[in-house]
Amino acid sequence: MKKLKKENNRRDFLKKCSLSTVPFLIPTIGLNAMSFEKTNDKVLTKNQSSVNFIYDGLALGPTEYLNKLQEINKSKPIEPDFYGGGGTTKLIEEEFAKITGKEKAIYLPTGTMANQLAIKLLNENNTKVIVPENSHIYRDEADAAQSVHGKRLIPVGKGKSYFDITDLKSTIDYTNKNEVFKSGLGTVVIENPVRRADGTFVPIGVIKDISKYCKENNYKMHLDGARIHIASAFSNISVSEYASYFDTVYISLYKYLNASGGAILCGDAKIIEQISHQIKILGGTVFQSWNNTSMALHYLEGINERWNEVVIKSEKLITALNKLNGISITSLKNGTNIYDLILSNEISLKKLAIFLYNEHNIWLGRANDKGIVKFTVNESLLTRDYTDILDAWKKGIEQARN
Ligand SMILES: Cc1ncc(COP(=O)(O)O)c(C=O)c1O
Repeated sequence: MKKLKKENNRRDFLKKCSLSTVPFLIPTIGLNAMSFEKTNDKVLTKNQSSVNFIYDGLALGPTEYLNKLQEINKSKPIEPDFYGGGGTTKLIEEEFAKITGKEKAIYLPTGTMANQLAIKLLNENNTKVIVPENSHIYRDEADAAQSVHGKRLIPVGKGKSYFDITDLKSTIDYTNKNEVFKSGLGTVVIENPVRRADGTFVPIGVIKDISKYCKENNYKMHLDGARIHIASAFSNISVSEYASYFDTVYISLYKYLNASGGAILCGDAKIIEQISHQIKILGGTVFQSWNNTSMALHYLEGINERWNEVVIKSEKLITALNKLNGISITSLKNGTNIYDLILSNEISLKKLAIFLYNEHNIWLGRANDKGIVKFTVNESLLTRDYTDILDAWKKGIEQARN
């Protein structure tokens, strides 16, 4: 019985961290090393919210999620939507249309659906869509474009974080010269920040060049901006400026806005007004979505200010941690909230992770095969005192020395 309970707790924790289902994208850390003795509720009774160095958002567990919804509902009663219409869902759509400077925005159950419907509709009768080779659309959407929507994805920029105008032009040139039966290219996609390149952002000059070329040649542009506010915080380019170079923009509601799922697609009314019918065709029309949209709307308010604070606080913390013996945290070129953490041989990552988790409710990711931990900062940093976090690390490093 006791063993079963322990196993259930362990499973709860794994579930909360999405670790049981996500094979490699999420660094499953020292999590292997953690004791898993504490359930989310026990940690909460210590009245110490978690600081995680693993995710883009707060990774709220069920209790925290429900408490937060209660808090939101108490301060202003949540208005339910009806099959996606009205209530908080309408409010968040209006808010995102404003933020991106687009005519309209619409809620969808997933980002995958938002991406796929955007390229399908933007492309009209054209069959070809150019996508980054390392993008979610190309690699992680189960060939939906080809199998459901009759669109052929052409990947560009293999082996690079992002493709530039030269890569784009040479791919278009190559297809034009080498294909006998011409079918049109309709849309070019950019993902920013790039998930498979450790969240690095695409330089604004590259986006501008591509956008100008696409306008001149009558190609539409779609932005997979699942984490666009994070790119914005680290690149100092506003979300509205990013959006201005694209016809449609998708933004996730759960990566850093802490909902349990959901997506927003923004663009011209002509496109967005076709989306709800398409969602229904795909069986994605959900009775009510206020549980996601009220949470995301809550975290959308003041997001720029909070992420500016994350940038400042994390820089301060990283500078202080780099002064400790045996720890090195470096930023990436065009980096956003993901850094490379390397420990010297005399410090055990396993001991450090267990200590931080058990004693301080601080979560650290696992090392990859090169011994690098992807040290990820997010809003959870703002929920605790800076000195407490630094002291926890100092103690942890000393405890973890072999
Ligand atoms: C860059 C990017 N685009 C799209 C998606 C798809 O989002 P969803 O899980 O809501 O389908 C993800 C999710 O991992 C992502 O990281």
